[in-house]
Amino acid sequence: MERLVEIEKIEFEEKEESSLRPARFSDYIGQESIKKNLHISINAAKKRAESLDHILLFGPPGLGKTTLAYIIANEMESNIKVTSAPMIEKSGDLAAILTNLSKGDILFIDEIHRLSSHIEEILYSAMEDFRLDIIIGSGPAAQTIKINIEEFTLIGATTRAGMLSNPLRDRFGIIFRMQFYSIDELSHIIALASKKLNKICSLESTQEIAKRSRGTPRVALRLLKRIRDFAEFHNESEISLERTIEALNELGVDERGFDELDLAFLKLLVEYSPKAIGLNTIAAALSEDERTIEDIIEPYLLSNGYIERTAKGRIATRKSHELLGIPLNSLF
Ligand SMILES: Nc1ncnc2c1ncn2[C@@H]1O[C@H](COP(=O)(O)OP(=O)(O)O)[C@@H](O)[C@H]1O
Ligand SMILES: [Mg+2]
Repeated sequence: MERLVEIEKIEFEEKEESSLRPARFSDYIGQESIKKNLHISINAAKKRAESLDHILLFGPPGLGKTTLAYIIANEMESNIKVTSAPMIEKSGDLAAILTNLSKGDILFIDEIHRLSSHIEEILYSAMEDFRLDIIIGSGPAAQTIKINIEEFTLIGATTRAGMLSNPLRDRFGIIFRMQFYSIDELSHIIALASKKLNKICSLESTQEIAKRSRGTPRVALRLLKRIRDFAEFHNESEISLERTIEALNELGVDERGFDELDLAFLKLLVEYSPKAIGLNTIAAALSEDERTIEDIIEPYLLSNGYIERTAKGRIATRKSHELLGIPLNSLF
């Protein structure tokens, strides 16, 4: 099922997404404490003419990790090389990337939790000592060659900090956890984006879209573009609240930004309530893979108190019972 509130990148969207991507901190809305900390670190690194510490960004998809990596590179006036863990299969792939870096370059590795362990090990000495230890041959004849590389900054992005090995996580000097965005922040992001799209969007509309975006800029921008299509179909130069509501309802996004899959998930939990239900059972019941449920559906519901995660599984809270109009079992 293709979800409109889907937050993982859909391939064809990439080009348009980069056109809406802010290039400077001044256009990067929200994540205030991250911005403040980065501002200080970037300033200090520049004064010392050193490269920035390695940075790990973690949080659910669509919250602005990739965008932030590009902004950091811009602010540092550094080159950025972008790759993602599944693209680095062999140790030679990583060695080639690392030996081609110039002093002060930024290497962005997306989905860094998906690096295989032997690739991770190469990163350890690269991050710590700016050196590659490459083993040639095997058995007693094996030799280690040491190659120095230029001082660089690694920015890693992950949806799962828990899946990173400890030695890798420990080598990041700076670790930031991305937060879901408030309605006002999303509304601001939508207003800036609609300007870039040359479409006026009323304040009421940006607020309404924001409310239904699950705290996620990528969802907000996707909804904005779909609503713009509705307005254009009706030859309207401005996106009105009426058209926004009509479009959102038509698109199957409810007042909280939940779609069928979110509601099916909550319904399942409420039916099991007060018992906890395990991830694999949920995945089977919804015909979705576990990763989709853990990375995409759950984080927003957890952070907004609709569900709780326990050792035995997931439990519906009072809030989700109320949402579905089913009273909380007295056993609970
Ligand atoms: N803080 C922000 N301010 C403005 N736009 C944002 C912000 N965070 C994300 N976006 C927009 O949302 C989209 C998704 O962001 P992205 O950086 O690709 O997310 P992630 O890498 O975490 O999945 C991009 O088009 C970006 O322009
Ligand atoms: Mg990304």
